[in-house]
Amino acid sequence: MAAPAVKILSWGTHVPERVVTNDELSLSLDTSDEWISSRSGIRERRIADDGEAASDLGAAAAKKALDAAGLGPAQLDLIIVASLSHDAPFPATASYLAGRIGADGVPAFDVSAACTGFIYALAAGRAFVAAGQATRVLVVGAEVVSRMIDWSDRSTAVLFGDGAGALVLGPAAAGEEGIIGFDLGNEPSGTELLKLPAGGSRLPARPETVAGRQHYLKMNGREVFRFATRVVAASAQRVLAKYDYDVSDVDLFVPHQANIRIIDAAARKLGLPPERIFTNLDRYGNTSCASIPICLDEAAAAGRLERGSLVLMTGFGAGLSWGSCLARW
Ligand code: COA
Repeated sequence: MAAPAVKILSWGTHVPERVVTNDELSLSLDTSDEWISSRSGIRERRIADDGEAASDLGAAAAKKALDAAGLGPAQLDLIIVASLSHDAPFPATASYLAGRIGADGVPAFDVSAACTGFIYALAAGRAFVAAGQATRVLVVGAEVVSRMIDWSDRSTAVLFGDGAGALVLGPAAAGEEGIIGFDLGNEPSGTELLKLPAGGSRLPARPETVAGRQHYLKMNGREVFRFATRVVAASAQRVLAKYDYDVSDVDLFVPHQANIRIIDAAARKLGLPPERIFTNLDRYGNTSCASIPICLDEAAAAGRLERGSLVLMTGFGAGLSWGSCLARW
């Protein structure tokens, strides 16, 4: 018997108020608006206030998604948070978020798959509902990546931003397709290309790790770029083929927002015209796990996602990991 269909019931986002432009970054870094925008497509990003952690942004997005679904926090059966900028190594950011939205007693856990985390969290949430272990699942991508950034490293500091997006999943009505399926993968040969070296059991926090600036995100941008341009189109093609769809069926492609050149390369390989691709990285930069849900929210608000639209989402990031999700909106 086929698993019951699961659909996206509602969505919501929250981004910090503070806008930091490329020109503002150029005041403290040896960079320029011209370099950043031509190499990445990013013009500005949102940066959280000092007191704001991932669960604060995530809770604000979650409340909007719950309101949109007409649900209270007690009606949730599960909360999953994807993040690479957790409030703390433990407890789970999902536990903090549950407290902030008043979801007392609701099970909550985190998914860690770097920038691909949101797609993995979506796959997990869908699996819980399809297996009959939950009816309503809140899936959140929440990031304060700005805390993980070495603000003296121009090669990474200009690329990231903060934000959060949330979806509520639930059973689809009879005849509705909902979330169609996933392509997930990981290349462990690339673990060293993008990482935050210290603060875990391999390299615990010590005065030396702080002095050595080992608590900041480190990236081999060129190699990650090569990986991303290869994997985005390949994963998108795999998920389409797996469920018997063609690129021409896709109404909107929502890729992870890391670099416009990665998105353009994928679009060329897939043969997708610009009007069927959603981008907003010019305004937010790379918000890691939050990028895809923020795009979905903005696309729906702009009328570019309507009931019945076929949406293809593809994420990638450290791991090196990737994931695509095909869904009927
Ligand atoms: N401003 C000005 N110059 C900069 C700079 C900045 N912010 N950052 C790097 N540079 C310099 C470099 O030092 C290098 O100088 P050099 O040639 O004298 O050594 C030069 O610009 C070119 O660097 P390069 O790395 O070749 O640039 P690029 O065209 O590959 O673009 C990235 C760099 C980081 C934008 C690009 O590699 C990228 O987007 N990679 C993927 C990153 C990503 O998506 N990560 C997240 C995955 S979820």
